[in-house]
Amino acid sequence: MKNNLSNIKKAVKILNKNQCVGIPTETVYGLAANAYSSDATDKIFKLKKRPKKNPLIVHYFNLKLLKKDCEINDNFLKLYKKYSPGPISYILKLKKKSLISKNVTNKKNTLAVRFPSHRLTRNLLKQLNYPLAAPSANISTKISPVSKKDVKDEFGRKVKLILDGGQSKIGVESTIINLIKKPQILRLGGIPKEQIKKYLNSHLVYIKKSKINSPGQEKTHYSPYIKLRLNIKKPNRNEAFVLIKKRKKMNQNYFYLSKKNNLKEAAKNLYKTLRFIKKRKYKSIAVEKIPNKGFGEVINDRLKRASNFK
Ligand code: TXA
Ligand code: MG
Repeated sequence: MKNNLSNIKKAVKILNKNQCVGIPTETVYGLAANAYSSDATDKIFKLKKRPKKNPLIVHYFNLKLLKKDCEINDNFLKLYKKYSPGPISYILKLKKKSLISKNVTNKKNTLAVRFPSHRLTRNLLKQLNYPLAAPSANISTKISPVSKKDVKDEFGRKVKLILDGGQSKIGVESTIINLIKKPQILRLGGIPKEQIKKYLNSHLVYIKKSKINSPGQEKTHYSPYIKLRLNIKKPNRNEAFVLIKKRKKMNQNYFYLSKKNNLKEAAKNLYKTLRFIKKRKYKSIAVEKIPNKGFGEVINDRLKRASNFK
């Protein structure tokens, strides 16, 4: 892990030239560029082959710059105090005089914002006078990367610099909460929705199919581009079998997400395991039934979308 200052300096230089840099976050790695520059953010869409209609999350160091770009409300402040920096993104109203590039928002008047907690990326954000637009650093609809090597696998040499922050600790994307009106969860993620609900002490809906063009709502997403079957008791021969916990009797086609049935650990290992299976050239993946609570619900959301790959 080479997290030295010289790498951060290099990243600042590249970003200042409106180029992209791969950055580690506690959720997944991001493909970052200056959120105020259309030239820079254009490159994100091109590299990821992402449709322009899909808006980007903007990453801030703290509230100072954010206040120039967004209207802040009480629910936001309450959640910010408790969960940021950390794995949660907030949808806020964009200020008219904001400098955020139109590319980032798909010309809408809302903005997804996040304050990542990874030390290296916080260090980088602190040195910039603009926030970073950063979607997950994968080709659109594929699995998100959780290490520097994963980002390299996605983009090869097209991305000049990827900061190495080790394996992402959470391993799935941030929870997205819409705070424009009554809080609504738009994407399940790094902070379980039950926790947020309890803390806000309010009714909290989870909008599975949002009308707002929204978080990972594409039918096929998070896909290793191999057939994937869910709720399987017995896998086919030669099929990779993903288990929620390690079995007494393992076989070479079996891959476990957690040693002791811990759903948080399983979420952390999900993308890493799917990527590994893909590299082993399996043609099909079977996954055993995963309890649909807490991080299990997040895992199921991702796997369900991955299983739509035909
Ligand atoms: O954990 C994360 O959130 C990672 C790391 C890198 O921060 N980022 C990430 O970005 O997952 P991305 O682009 O892969 O997913 C962001 C999702 C997109 O599906 C997009 O539709 C949604 O957030 N989104 C962005 N802006 C929005 C907005 N204004 N309203 C509703 N949804 C929005
Ligand atoms: Mg993504």
